[in-house]
Amino acid sequence: PEAVPAVDTPAGDLDTLRTHARDCRACPLWGPATQTVFGEGPTDARIVVVGEQPGDQEDLSGRPFVGPAGKLLQRALDELGIARDTLYLTNAVKHFRFERRGKHRLHKAPEPGHARACRQWLARELELLQPDTVVCLGATAASSVLGADFKLMQQRGQWERLSSGARAFATVHPAWVLRQPAAQQEAAYRGFVEDLRLLIDRRN
Ligand code: URA
Repeated sequence: PEAVPAVDTPAGDLDTLRTHARDCRACPLWGPATQTVFGEGPTDARIVVVGEQPGDQEDLSGRPFVGPAGKLLQRALDELGIARDTLYLTNAVKHFRFERRGKHRLHKAPEPGHARACRQWLARELELLQPDTVVCLGATAASSVLGADFKLMQQRGQWERLSSGARAFATVHPAWVLRQPAAQQEAAYRGFVEDLRLLIDRRN
């Protein structure tokens, strides 16, 4: 990955943090992207959901999880009776990374250096929000929150404890579900919903 200059983590509340993040230059992804897509949700949210990075529609609208992956997440939340507006939704990487192909912008997974550079924002979001529960969607989010050694496919759907005292678990990313071959997609979706069921399981 590209060299990542250190930047000071700004102090202050979430709105101040969001404002600072607009001008983040800690990695080169800001250049081609439209804007920083910062986290969104109530400041008293008990649950924080961490995705990978904004996609095409998120980059254009400036809001997380409004494209196809967001719609699948919404379907899963509806099934579980969880209202999206009670959650704080954010991403491990806050700029869209893409490759241009004609008039299309093809999503490109972020590199570990991009996630490392962006981690300061996520860390401050979690510090300010002090959630009870953190849900990681996909390997990039899991690595940023639970550490680089986390093995998503072996450890998904299991409670972990963060040093803040919050509990956390990881599951697959909804975009991964959408990328599965048609014959496997329903099973992949069911697995995703079953992991998210931890959020409403009264035995926890
Ligand atoms: N995928 C993500 O991980 N985050 C978004 O905001 C949208 C798609």
